[in-house]
Amino acid sequence: MTERTLHITVAEAESFDTLPEYLKPLMAKAQEAAKAAYAPYSNYKVGAALLLADGTMLIGNNQENIAYPSGVCAERVAFFSASANYPGIEIQAVAVTAINERNQDDVACTPCGACRQVMAEYETKQGKAIPLVMPGGNGTYVVTKNIATLLPFQFEAEGLKKG
Ligand code: THU
Repeated sequence: MTERTLHITVAEAESFDTLPEYLKPLMAKAQEAAKAAYAPYSNYKVGAALLLADGTMLIGNNQENIAYPSGVCAERVAFFSASANYPGIEIQAVAVTAINERNQDDVACTPCGACRQVMAEYETKQGKAIPLVMPGGNGTYVVTKNIATLLPFQFEAEGLKKG
């Protein structure tokens, strides 16, 4: 057995103002989207915003349900909506943020595992990295250069691919 260490590199912004310019309107859009989430059971409102290659900004927010597992996360709402409504248009970046039940909007918010898997597939499909920005807590932001960074060993079953 050989031990291998995997390294990931992320960029940190100490405030909204120091984010790369193109990510600011996207994060602002995600914050707006979070406010409109339907999250009556968790009271944890998540917003996601995608920037498409044609300049479109597209949002998603978590949609909960009384049958709890039927609910869907904000990121998946956004990515599925992009794939359904803008098929073939490249996704250039994604912003994710949340408002917790104490109404705090500067809490760290990282995508769940299922959303990482879904976002990673669209990244692989388009063959172009999708940078992701998310709050790191206390007004800071974390930017990853792609989705793969968030999901080492993502599920990619060659034999399952059709076409
Ligand atoms: N949630 C998201 O929308 N995105 C994530 O990546 C993690 C969790 C939602 C699901 C549920 O509505 C609420 O946050 C609490 O888990």
